[in-house]
Amino acid sequence: MTSQMPKAVPATNYNVEEIRKDFPIFSQKIYGKPLTFLDSGASAQKPRQVLEAIQKCYAEEYANIHRGVYYLSQVGTQKYEDARVKIQKFINAASPNEIIFVRGATEAINLVAQSWGRKFLTKGDEVVLSRMEHHSNIVPWQMLRDEKDIVITVAPIDDKANFLFDEFEAMLSEKVKLVAITHISNALGTITPIKEIIKAAHKVGAKVLVDGCQAVPHMRVDMQELDADFYVFSGHKLYGPTGVGVLYAKEELLNAMPPYQGGGDMIRSVTFEKTVYNDLPHKFEAGTPHIAGGIGFGAAIDYVESLGFENIGPHEDGLLDYALDKIQTVKGLRLVSRADKMAGILSFTMDLAHPHDIGTILDQDGIAIRTGHHCAQPVMDFFDIPSTARMSLGLYNTEEDIDRLVAGLHKVNRIFS
Ligand code: ALA
Repeated sequence: MTSQMPKAVPATNYNVEEIRKDFPIFSQKIYGKPLTFLDSGASAQKPRQVLEAIQKCYAEEYANIHRGVYYLSQVGTQKYEDARVKIQKFINAASPNEIIFVRGATEAINLVAQSWGRKFLTKGDEVVLSRMEHHSNIVPWQMLRDEKDIVITVAPIDDKANFLFDEFEAMLSEKVKLVAITHISNALGTITPIKEIIKAAHKVGAKVLVDGCQAVPHMRVDMQELDADFYVFSGHKLYGPTGVGVLYAKEELLNAMPPYQGGGDMIRSVTFEKTVYNDLPHKFEAGTPHIAGGIGFGAAIDYVESLGFENIGPHEDGLLDYALDKIQTVKGLRLVSRADKMAGILSFTMDLAHPHDIGTILDQDGIAIRTGHHCAQPVMDFFDIPSTARMSLGLYNTEEDIDRLVAGLHKVNRIFS
């Protein structure tokens, strides 16, 4: 949370030095320096528990799943489906049928656009996005707009990157059929008032899709409490493998939606005349799935649950407060992230150096941050900047990481002054 918020209470039973030992990557040196990894918003590092689950899958228990009557196939199927149930419980979905494995959040949004959107949206229907959306929650709707003549409108933010709820609410009407909005902005860290957004959208009969990529690694999300219609996130930002993510959708919606892709596993029977589709969740999972990815994702959920959001959240909030205090000692640094409610992410620019130069100089000291437009060019345009430098936190970061970052930023100023 930002300094405008009450200070986060540091988690007393959270031993970050012990936790870091679970992540083999931190035993490496980068250019002979300790790794300071501040780019978990792009992709998080993996604990050995996840790596071991993937290794075990391939080395000891590997076979295709949902297809074999033999031992290995049965074990693999069970573990993959166990992972689905872990994810269901993790987000408190009503049923494992509501958990669709996809390649990542991007594929999940494309699935909703191409399946639900193509079937249920018609000319003139409105889709409301926010100014802060990632390209993956803009472009699929533009593709649908080109095909179906729907209208995209954009909910505004203020110059501190707060989501303007009243202005958003004023945009709602019966023409709005979908609101597709991030839970936490990947470029800026703003937490949107997602529960109020969902409630307001539902009042006019609109469905709501939430991009939860940056939220699920940081806070407990509860589908039954939020009442989101669609909620998407990726495994790799949640300490799991790449290439696997989740589309959560209410079962009644999934039942009404046509399949997104055709192929094996998504059918009950096929003749050249007619195909009968499989039940949920398989109807949306054509082809051999990312078996080891799903199992690794389940291990990542176990890992995060073993630490607990009651510990991870305050730990990261405390670090964000610490970073906010320290980073403002850097001369000529301008915070782009200034929302009243933020989590895990700080975006900034510096008067003397371009973000890419900042990133390159920090890299020489083993400090990894992301620089660029963060796949969110419309919000960069709003701030009239082409790019920012962005630090993003993970459950393994420490005050020392922030100190190194801030020392690196002072060094950037020395080099460019
Ligand atoms: N969407 C990812 C990020 O914010 C890649 O960096």
